[in-house]
Amino acid sequence: MTDVLTVHGGTPLKGDIVVRGAKNLVSKAMVATLLGESASRLRAVPEIADVRIVSSLLELHGVQVGAGDEHDELTFDPTNVEKAHVADIDAHAGSSRIPILLCGPLLHRLGEAFIPDLGGCRIGDRPIDYHLEVLRQFGATVEKRPEGLRLTAAQRLHGTKLTLPYPSVGSTEQVLLTAVRAKGLTELRNAAIEPEILDLIAVLQKMGAIISVDIDRVIRIEGVDTLQGFTHRAMPDRIEAASWACAALATHGEIYVQGARQPDMMTFLNVFRKIGGAFEVDDDGIRFSRGGEGQRSVVLETDVHPGFMTDWQQPLVVALTQTSGLSIVHETVYENRLGFTKALVDMGAHIQLFRECLGGLPCRFGQRNFLHSAVVSGPTTLRGADIEVPDLRGGFSYLIAALAAQGTSTVRGVDLIYRGYEKFLDKLDGVGARYERG
Ligand code: EPZ
Repeated sequence: MTDVLTVHGGTPLKGDIVVRGAKNLVSKAMVATLLGESASRLRAVPEIADVRIVSSLLELHGVQVGAGDEHDELTFDPTNVEKAHVADIDAHAGSSRIPILLCGPLLHRLGEAFIPDLGGCRIGDRPIDYHLEVLRQFGATVEKRPEGLRLTAAQRLHGTKLTLPYPSVGSTEQVLLTAVRAKGLTELRNAAIEPEILDLIAVLQKMGAIISVDIDRVIRIEGVDTLQGFTHRAMPDRIEAASWACAALATHGEIYVQGARQPDMMTFLNVFRKIGGAFEVDDDGIRFSRGGEGQRSVVLETDVHPGFMTDWQQPLVVALTQTSGLSIVHETVYENRLGFTKALVDMGAHIQLFRECLGGLPCRFGQRNFLHSAVVSGPTTLRGADIEVPDLRGGFSYLIAALAAQGTSTVRGVDLIYRGYEKFLDKLDGVGARYERG
């Protein structure tokens, strides 16, 4: 399959699409299957590259991954979990950050774990220091080797009291996946409480874990000796839903996103309405379109839940180039997630980046030389261009820009988009996008 799309812009996208399970829950629930004594069933699994990567990683560790009874169900049998070869893990992990989350479960099952150099989207430094500190506090020993990190646990990991320096999603999941089978109590302060994390907690509770989410970002976990498999339907992908919403707004179209859920998207919906979007919620999904015209501006900061998700930021910025007004976007989760705007400026967008924390409270990146605030002025006519996908969300956002632009664009590196957007070409067909492969 070719990695390049020739996109003809200027046609409003209209039609229905379906979103299935959230990438950022499904991949973690798949890791949780390692903790069970019996097989698990996960439903609403999307056909995305990240699911294939995590399946390969689990298979390397002896988990049998198979098709379930429903068309989008996978089964995981972890009865024969075993050590994997270092080189194999490296080869299969691709640029995924998931291997770090295998550590807790593997330490419980095998007493050791290995992680290769980790990748993930190029949206900032993306260190793993919190993860390693968490694992050390549970009693793991971390050893740096030329090929990666080796973790060992001479005896059963034990519960602990932790406070995260920042409510990191992955580090909170690390704590959950490790604490559920550690000996004794774990108390985590400054935890992330994203809906995907609460859905992971639901999965773990089905397995037999005892976890309470208290006020003020405190999560308490009572370790248990054994856990069983689970049957679970993954929550829908609210990042994909918002991406299609932005596509509808930017192209003056109307897209019904079946599976989109209002409670998971309230913060997005408020902003969407403020910038001139319209939406109608029904029992099965949300219909997104453009509302009345007029000057609409927004000042927003990306933040941990319940704030505006950083993953919504990139498609939203493209939508802002096509709506009226002067808006400020302050990215406070990743220091380098506005770099993708350069190509939009080359296409004709009016976007200026600033090192200062604009719009609201100072964040971790202020005074540190990161261009992490943007002023976007719209509407502007975008021109077709030759653009290269920079990262997953930036890549889908470039597709939106190309579809909103006048003329033809060449979008290179589109395969990356398959990591998180299921069958996106079929969905583009379904909403009337005009493009060719190659
Ligand atoms: C998850 O990444 C998601 N990925 C990201 O989605 C998402 O953008 C992010 O959470 C925030 O919501 C997956 O779920 C697979 P973090 P994660 O730990 O867990 C710093 C997408 O497009 N940090 O919450 O890796 C980090 O640098 C992806 O679907 C450390 O400093 O994110 C960042 O500034 C992209 N040290 C902040 O915390 C650490 O050890 C938040 O990161 C860990 C994180």
